[in-house]
Amino acid sequence: GAAVQVDVSTIAPGEKRIVEWRGKPVWVMRRTPEQLATLEKDEAQLADPKSERTAFPTPEYAKNRTRSIKPEILVAIGICTHLGCSPGDKFTPGPQPSLPDNWLGGFLCACHGSTFDLAGRVFQNKPAPDNLEIPPHYYVSDNMLLIG
Ligand code: FES
Repeated sequence: GAAVQVDVSTIAPGEKRIVEWRGKPVWVMRRTPEQLATLEKDEAQLADPKSERTAFPTPEYAKNRTRSIKPEILVAIGICTHLGCSPGDKFTPGPQPSLPDNWLGGFLCACHGSTFDLAGRVFQNKPAPDNLEIPPHYYVSDNMLLIG
């Protein structure tokens, strides 16, 4: 399949773009400094904070706190690692599953209640067995991202 190209300079802070790669929705999100700060705060409550589980292996270049090459840009497959629903959030236009009032940000799978932080890392005691999958990707220039 052809690689998908995204100019990340066109993605606004806090915006989550959805592109299709191999028939799957891939999220490309530019996280704000405030959103990145939540990644540190949530760490003790995560099931696999260092992305060491192997059901959906995380590429070496994304085995870090932000799970990304550029700290602010998340590239993740938007499919729950439990049974394949599409997690919701506050960043996508249109109807979303109802989110708790105290929701700090992150992704919520309405099917069975798995929650993920803004790096796609699953919280403890949730049905999803793994963090959201990070697809193979790289940058061909400062802002040009290739997925695949
Ligand atoms: Fe997401 Fe079950 S499919 S929690």
